[in-house]
Amino acid sequence: MLNRRKFITLTAASAYLTTLADKVLAQTTEPLKSTLPVVISTWDFGVAANQAAWGVLKNGGRALDAVEAGARIPEADMKNHSVGRAGYPDRDGHVTLDACIMDEQGNCGSVAAMENIAHPISVARMVMEKTPHVMLAGDGATQFAVEHGFTKETLLTPESEKAWKEWLKTAKYAPVINSENKDYKLGNKYNHDTIGMLALDSKGNISGACTTSGMAWKLHGRVGDSPIIGAGLYVDNEVGGATSTGVGEEVIRNVGSFLVVELMRQGHSPQQACEEAVKRIIKKKPETAKQIQVGFLAINKKGEYGAFAIQEGFSYAVCNAEKQDTLIKGESFYK
Ligand code: GLY
Repeated sequence: MLNRRKFITLTAASAYLTTLADKVLAQTTEPLKSTLPVVISTWDFGVAANQAAWGVLKNGGRALDAVEAGARIPEADMKNHSVGRAGYPDRDGHVTLDACIMDEQGNCGSVAAMENIAHPISVARMVMEKTPHVMLAGDGATQFAVEHGFTKETLLTPESEKAWKEWLKTAKYAPVINSENKDYKLGNKYNHDTIGMLALDSKGNISGACTTSGMAWKLHGRVGDSPIIGAGLYVDNEVGGATSTGVGEEVIRNVGSFLVVELMRQGHSPQQACEEAVKRIIKKKPETAKQIQVGFLAINKKGEYGAFAIQEGFSYAVCNAEKQDTLIKGESFYK
């Protein structure tokens, strides 16, 4: 059988052969499928997050409650420097957090560049449920959170401050592909590893959550894909859900998660849809794509799921009645 991924890598320059590869994909890819309920999420920290979400789902709970509970785990993890409470700051030393959430009815809420609040995913849910708006940003998001009972606190930890000061010595932007890599060191590198989580509950309803501290050492005010509905996360309960991780700018440029869901609507499996979305990013900026990571994760109404990334090293966690701690190596364009 033709190895489709090797095939694409070898022939990326040829439009004719890429079209042929698409046909091969349609013929050969077997979707991974789970029983319901199920929750999936990005990266190895998704395993612990999934277990919290599973606590909701296993008792017949709602997917929305599951993804909020799950996303709060890496947000609270003091060792996680790319999500939530202990996220690395921007180049001026501000920890600014981004998150969004979306439910099975198409309701959504988001906060962007919010400071001093440890759980942006819960504020995003409150924006969804308590306001007529979708997104609150900056000081307004913090003000809204405090008015709704969240505690204002300093998020910059001594460890994050040390890493930031180390970075300031050179103050260079130098992409790191996956911050999980063993060779990732503090200093003149930045990371963007986000948790994106999708749950399908026992009623067959889908919800999703996405939360991050964004690119470390970013410009103050920079907002990535994670709080942008359609970019970092999208759910359409008729079709499925998708979420992303990696360099948010490229995801926004391609409205990545919406694209994945629309491709599933047109008949692609979650795996095929993630691959196509990654290919679009590479096709538009092939030189940029060699230096960065972007990964997509998707699930459809049948419980089929899939993932694909530009670079090797992406992983995602799957949790259902059979197994609560599965971590899967995501397939990638570059090997
Ligand atoms: N994907 C996270 C970010 O770019 O901020």
